[in-house]
Amino acid sequence: MSSQLRPTDVKRLNRQWRRRTEGRLALLVESVTQPFNLGSILRTCATLGVDHLWLTGNSADPEDPKVGKTALGTAAKVDHTRLATTGQALEAARADGFEVVALELAKNAVPLHAAPLEGDVCLAVGAEDHGCSPALLSGADAITYIPQIGRVGSLNVAVATAIALAEIRRREWSGFGDGADAPVGS
Ligand SMILES: C[S@@+](CC[C@H](N)C(=O)[O-])C[C@H]1O[C@@H](n2cnc3c(N)ncnc32)[C@H](O)[C@@H]1O
Repeated sequence: MSSQLRPTDVKRLNRQWRRRTEGRLALLVESVTQPFNLGSILRTCATLGVDHLWLTGNSADPEDPKVGKTALGTAAKVDHTRLATTGQALEAARADGFEVVALELAKNAVPLHAAPLEGDVCLAVGAEDHGCSPALLSGADAITYIPQIGRVGSLNVAVATAIALAEIRRREWSGFGDGADAPVGS
């Protein structure tokens, strides 16, 4: 019979996957204004090992206590830098060795499962209301979108971020098959 892992088992399992993970991940967040969305994004970043977060536009502040309500203490685990313009954030990500992949339902975007996500990737996501700016879309190395089949315009930005970051890690981990070594019994 299965049961939930205890916190110490989860820590051990996380350590095992950390040892198997080499790809560097970063995130560029452009004008995500709702603190609960940024908090949720920060929690995903901390979970999936995002090295650095570049904030631009009028994005919420990671230090805002309202962000903390969804980040649940994980905000401090992700290094972040705020830059005045999207151009500067793109430049900073590239200078740090990342290929920038914008996440947007945009012309010439490729579906996520076929996107170039190998190597060190900085994913870039846009505002809740108007999405990625033209500067971000034209400055990115590639653009990808998450296919949708419902009669809905788009996903919540924090959910879209989590799906795409998990896909990047999944690509690297798929070679390990199901050998996850989750603790048995207890
Ligand atoms: C709520 S959406 C933006 C709204 C949309 N562009 C519009 O004008 O209605 C916020 C962000 O979430 C991400 N996003 C949401 N759904 C997506 C999807 N299906 N594919 C790619 N990105 C998505 C993008 O980064 C987007 O900029």
